[in-house]
Amino acid sequence: MPAPYDKTNPFAARLVARRRLSSPASQKETVHFSVSLDGSGLTYKCGDSLGVFPTNAPEAVEAMLRAGGFTGAEQVLIPKDPAPLALREALARRLALNGPTYKFVQLLHDRAGESDRARLAERLAEPDPERKKAWIEQREFIDLLEEFPTARPSAQELVESQRRLMPRLYSIASAPALHPGEIHLTVAVVRYETNGRRREGVCSTYLADRVRLGEADLPVFVAESHFGPPADDATPIIMVGPGTGVAPFRSFVQDRAARGVRSPAWLFFGDQRKDHDFLYAEEWAEHLRTGALTRLDTAFSRDQERKVYVQDRMRENAAELWRWLSSGAFFYVCGDAKRMAKDVDAALHAIVAEQGGMTPEATAQWVKQLKKDGRYQRDVY
Ligand SMILES: Cc1cc2nc3c(=O)[nH]c(=O)nc-3n(C[C@H](O)[C@H](O)[C@H](O)COP(=O)(O)OP(=O)(O)OC[C@H]3O[C@@H](n4cnc5c(N)ncnc54)[C@H](O)[C@@H]3O)c2cc1C
Ligand SMILES: NC(=O)c1ccc[n+]([C@@H]2O[C@H](COP(=O)([O-])OP(=O)(O)OC[C@H]3O[C@@H](n4cnc5c(N)ncnc54)[C@H](OP(=O)(O)O)[C@@H]3O)[C@@H](O)[C@H]2O)c1
Repeated sequence: MPAPYDKTNPFAARLVARRRLSSPASQKETVHFSVSLDGSGLTYKCGDSLGVFPTNAPEAVEAMLRAGGFTGAEQVLIPKDPAPLALREALARRLALNGPTYKFVQLLHDRAGESDRARLAERLAEPDPERKKAWIEQREFIDLLEEFPTARPSAQELVESQRRLMPRLYSIASAPALHPGEIHLTVAVVRYETNGRRREGVCSTYLADRVRLGEADLPVFVAESHFGPPADDATPIIMVGPGTGVAPFRSFVQDRAARGVRSPAWLFFGDQRKDHDFLYAEEWAEHLRTGALTRLDTAFSRDQERKVYVQDRMRENAAELWRWLSSGAFFYVCGDAKRMAKDVDAALHAIVAEQGGMTPEATAQWVKQLKKDGRYQRDVY
């Protein structure tokens, strides 16, 4: 029997569909992907994620080779790897092109000609820690190689300064009961600018721009998760998933639709603008009609002057939310970890305190117990 596919032995999957979800007038680029698992023997559960091994954009690799004065044919050994390989291959598949550290700046200093050495020494001696941090964060390896053209590390020194290119995880947006041989993803494509240069997120643009439809060459694995729907179908569920955070809830609701589950299910969805960013709007309408979803509250942050977020909708419905929670509902949050998940957590605490008439200590204890019972689950990134 062939070895099962996993993170150490990814399956070369076929991308079978790619469809933009946000409108062309959106300020975001949110894309739906369907990946076929045909021939892999892989299975998945609602709540699991798909791991994807990306490669860097060929133009970015060529630009970096040019900037460093390399041909690409130089043989290099990635630390802890058994065999050497060509620098071009290492940069394309194995190493991150972003995230240089001051250790690399020091190396450039040690390899630089007179003019660059003085400027590099100045950078290394920057006394303000905030400014020092911001300067390096604004730069990728190519910026440094171009800004200090006399500083020429060897190919091997460059490779030893880079981090490994890691797989990215994506919450699965389909349910196995409806799509047993297929995995759907909802991906926000990362494009931004720093230090006057356009940057691209490696994996989101790999999926959006570089993976060829229909070819079996997308390396993936299924990452199991503890995040998942309640074992008892009768349990009510509250799902908070703004932006791409809605992905696992599409899976939960598809599963309910496929298996005829019609217990209470409440989704809070938010994004920038209703006309441009209402992900899967028609699907939610159909699920509301059948009862696979029983309630939907939306928060479109940029459709009015004042920002409105999912936690505002939670607060507006505090009494009802509290009724659901006190009757045993599970509470799920997925999406941005830095701001959204924290604010939603604060809103949950405020609702429990106000509606349950609890002190801050009793509230904290109540929410802690909710988590302990597996009734407060988060999938945040
Ligand atoms: C469990 C889990 C589930 C996830 N599910 C999803 C999902 O369903 N959908 C989804 O889209 N993502 C999801 N993610 C995030 C996903 O794994 C990737 O992190 C994301 O796609 C970005 O990867 P990338 O390779 O395109 O970007 P990278 O090359 O990793 O670049 C991202 C980095 O770029 C920098 N950056 C980004 N924007 C800016 C900016 N405006 N200004 C300055 N710097 C910036 C930041 O340093 C950021 O860390 C999930 C993550 C986890 C851990
Ligand atoms: N730069 C950052 O700090 C940051 C943070 C999160 C995500 N991102 C990027 O955005 C992409 C992910 O996009 P996504 O579609 O998953 O979601 P998203 O764009 O982060 O947000 C979806 C919705 O959540 C709103 N939102 C913003 N802050 C919030 C908060 N504190 N509480 C509740 N809702 C909040 C957004 O409103 P507004 O946008 O109108 O405020 C938007 O309406 C990724 O590419 C990621 O790199 C960046």
